[in-house]
Amino acid sequence: MLTEAIVVTGGAGFIGSNFVNAWVRLNQGKVVNLDKLTYAGNLENLADISQDPEHVFIHADIGDRAAVKALLETHHPRAIVNFAAESHVDRSIYGPDAFIQTNVVGTFNLLEEVRAYWQALPLDEQSSFRFLHVSTDEVYGSLGPNDPAFKETNPYQPNSPYSASKAASDHLVRAYHHTYGLPTLTTNCSNNYGPYHFPEKLIPLVIHNALSGKPLPIYGNGSNVRDWLYVEDHCSAIRQVLATGQPGETYNVGGWNEKTNLDVVHTLCDILDQERPKAQGSYRDQITFVKDRPGHDLRYAIDASKIEQELGWKPQETFETGIRKTVRWYLENPEWVAHVTSGEYQNWLSKNYQKRGEELA
Ligand code: NAD
Ligand code: TYD
Repeated sequence: MLTEAIVVTGGAGFIGSNFVNAWVRLNQGKVVNLDKLTYAGNLENLADISQDPEHVFIHADIGDRAAVKALLETHHPRAIVNFAAESHVDRSIYGPDAFIQTNVVGTFNLLEEVRAYWQALPLDEQSSFRFLHVSTDEVYGSLGPNDPAFKETNPYQPNSPYSASKAASDHLVRAYHHTYGLPTLTTNCSNNYGPYHFPEKLIPLVIHNALSGKPLPIYGNGSNVRDWLYVEDHCSAIRQVLATGQPGETYNVGGWNEKTNLDVVHTLCDILDQERPKAQGSYRDQITFVKDRPGHDLRYAIDASKIEQELGWKPQETFETGIRKTVRWYLENPEWVAHVTSGEYQNWLSKNYQKRGEELA
């Protein structure tokens, strides 16, 4: 018998922890959270629900077939939401192995165990079961300045080891629906920002460096464009797709918020100038242009009309409201930042930035 429980993988990371926290806060039922706790996984993200009986944490790898099998047999979940992944483009350039291992091989192993579990269910439960795979807009490649935004029908043209590994996982998910009939759903979302975002990514890195008096590194000339979505809006989109999405379908998720990197960094500096003014000058004075990322995609933009029209989802936050909330969260949570920026993080800074000629480590 299926239970009301869902399994979330990667629920100690940035988006996964926001999703799990919201799931418990909204009384959606039990959530079993499987996470390997890589450098990006952090139990502090789950501190608010650590004692909640509706949240069960399991420390394991999605590629550990025995662990996944045991979890499925114990909890009989009605759905899996797969966030677990290596997620940082720059890390994928320095070391693609972990990306292939988790995003491709790990997803495959997870799918195999889920398929075995699902095939043993009675027919009515087979049709109500869902496997939701959380993916990225980066699988579609890079847009020119005047190209229309990515639709679900765009061809896959991934350009980085990260996006190629996510594309491979999306293809596996698609094939498991097409071949075996597994009721899958895939979401391809634009860049997220918000609380619990690890400061290796642009927005939290800039907030952290600004407050630490360090340079704010902008790759190339800062004209690359990303489409930003507040993380809670991504989580609400995933809940909506899980509840009402059509099995076998993919849904693009985005906030219609295209910004150049330079605009994003200027906005962050201006908010910080208001919220935590420096003794002298502006945080903008810390901006530094550094060597570009190899193969840097010029522009991502999501056309979110399918999820809006078919499932009635819309984001709640504009970029302006979401980014201010985000800055305030980092200002109010210095201990969280201090804990995640010690240890391994320092090694990453020297690897990624010192070669760019910056003294950021
Ligand atoms: P993250 O790096 O912050 O978190 C990833 C989590 O997965 C961590 O808790 C980590 O410990 C866990 N994990 C990694 N390898 C694992 C494994 N083998 N087994 C179990 N757990 C493992 O990533 P995020 O930014 O929260 O992204 C979550 C998902 O959303 C990813 O699949 C990513 O591709 C996708 N996505 C992210 C964004 C974004 O802007 N961050 C946008 C669109 C899609
Ligand atoms: P990032 O947050 O790594 O997300 P993604 O590469 O998945 O879009 O980067 C967002 C943009 O910011 C991207 O164009 C690269 C750029 N960037 C910088 O300019 N400087 C930095 O230090 C980082 C981490 C990113």
